[in-house]
Amino acid sequence: MGYMKQCKDLKIVSVEHPNDGYVLLRLTDNEPLPEIRAGQFVEIKVENSPQTFLRRPISVNFVDEERNELWLLIQVVGEGTRHLASLQVGNMLNVLFPLGNGFTQGTAGESVLLVGGGVGIAPLLEYAKQLKQVGATPYLLLGGRSACNLLQLDLFRQYGEVYVTTEDGSMGERGFVTNHSFLESFASFPLKGTRGGARISCCGPKPMMLAVAKWAKEHGVTCEVSLENLMACGLGACLCCVEKTVKGNVCVCKEGPVFNINELTWQI
Ligand SMILES: Cc1cc2nc3c(=O)[nH]c(=O)nc-3n(C[C@H](O)[C@H](O)[C@H](O)COP(=O)(O)OP(=O)(O)OC[C@H]3O[C@@H](n4cnc5c(N)ncnc54)[C@H](O)[C@@H]3O)c2cc1C
Ligand code: FES
Repeated sequence: MGYMKQCKDLKIVSVEHPNDGYVLLRLTDNEPLPEIRAGQFVEIKVENSPQTFLRRPISVNFVDEERNELWLLIQVVGEGTRHLASLQVGNMLNVLFPLGNGFTQGTAGESVLLVGGGVGIAPLLEYAKQLKQVGATPYLLLGGRSACNLLQLDLFRQYGEVYVTTEDGSMGERGFVTNHSFLESFASFPLKGTRGGARISCCGPKPMMLAVAKWAKEHGVTCEVSLENLMACGLGACLCCVEKTVKGNVCVCKEGPVFNINELTWQI
């Protein structure tokens, strides 16, 4: 089957509002869903909304193979996501998927620290699952403004140890992910290239990814980040998602959204 792109109407089988301002949509299809790599995303057509002519990119949050379900965790920030949050069970959603490269596939024995911030946490759930499936050990370091921004923690705990920071101190350690005490222990894990190996994958707001990239570089740890550039077509055609890299300008929707930090030029 491979990672064949499809454009399909998927059926909404569940709509949950895990917290104010968020919606978790579970979608299914009559046919088996295509193989999806963690970190890949879908482009959703938002119907009946003149302001949302362009599709909206949303990461694959989780794939439930047994139920043939694809989950999307969406934070309401504007017109398009507000419409998505108002959908009902039984509605159809037109999606173009799976798009993008996804995170590095795991190898048995390695330790991978998954750092997520805000709704950037969403794709890390599927990634933690896929890493555990291949015998890697995922560690989760998740940060939010407040406890209400940290969703699905019980699900994350099924796949690895979970460490949390909040800016207001309402859960876990107070501050940013880069201040968490676990990072110090992680720095002493055997690094990639040695047996086992340790690396970081990160998805969140840009200032957070910059801080994590800086930490990784200072500690000699391999690190990849998932960029959230503005996107429209999702296929490398409109050029609105271009990012400067050491190999020149590339479309984040096609060459990314995941990049090794050494490929990017935004680093300090
Ligand atoms: C690869 C990728 C994966 C993403 N995964 C998720 C996810 O799993 N869950 C989630 O809640 N959000 C995710 N986003 C962000 C999401 O696409 C935007 O929040 C959404 O498109 C906003 O649409 P809107 O119509 O509600 O807001 P608008 O009214 O269009 O804009 C509101 C805000 O959202 C930003 N925004 C608008 N359009 C985009 C866009 N196409 N891409 C990025 N930011 C945009 C604007 O800069 C503005 O700050 C992802 C973005 C990318 C690029
Ligand atoms: S979104 Fe159109 S080129 Fe990337």
